[in-house]
Amino acid sequence: MKRVAVLISGRGSNLGALIAAQDSSYRIILVISNVEGAGGLDKARDAGIATAVIPHGGPSGEKKPREAFDAELDTALRAAGAELVVLAGFMRILSDGFVRGWEGKLINIHPSLLPAYKGTKVHERVIEAKEALSGASVHFVVPELDAGPVIAQSSVPVHPSDTPETLAERILEIEHKLYPEALKLLASGKVKLKNGLAVLS
Ligand code: GRF
Repeated sequence: MKRVAVLISGRGSNLGALIAAQDSSYRIILVISNVEGAGGLDKARDAGIATAVIPHGGPSGEKKPREAFDAELDTALRAAGAELVVLAGFMRILSDGFVRGWEGKLINIHPSLLPAYKGTKVHERVIEAKEALSGASVHFVVPELDAGPVIAQSSVPVHPSDTPETLAERILEIEHKLYPEALKLLASGKVKLKNGLAVLS
């Protein structure tokens, strides 16, 4: 059973799905938020999971250097004995050093069919481009943003009447199935990062 830490910044609906889907392959042992009062922290507490807040601002509101924040994060994860780190709506870019330290053990979910539509304002751009399909992708995290090898993907139709909100909602529903499935593949050793590829066995 792999010990999993989940990093969040917001409401944590994916965290909720990951908590509900826990089985003999993984246990969530820690939830860390960089935002105090993030809704996901309550979901973790309600499930009896340890939580921590690591603010990215210093005591007088100044931004901490990225490396200092990442070092704190890394220390907390290692102290808790985390074996896998799952980003679930974690709105901070992680430094190359941190990402390399967790290579093959760090995953993210992104609300597009990667490699299409990396970055932010995904749904706006998908609708603007009149795409017929969009979806969600779970990928290994590499230093380049949203560019890591994809572990699992699932698609939904884009309707002509969609707004970014309705499309986000349709995609969120599939995220809640896809993310636990992908995490189980990783936790049970059925997918590994090898030579820059997600390899299934
Ligand atoms: C999801 O859409 C996910 O794809 C993106 O951030 C959002 C997080 O939502 N990375 P939630 O906090 O899990 O509800």
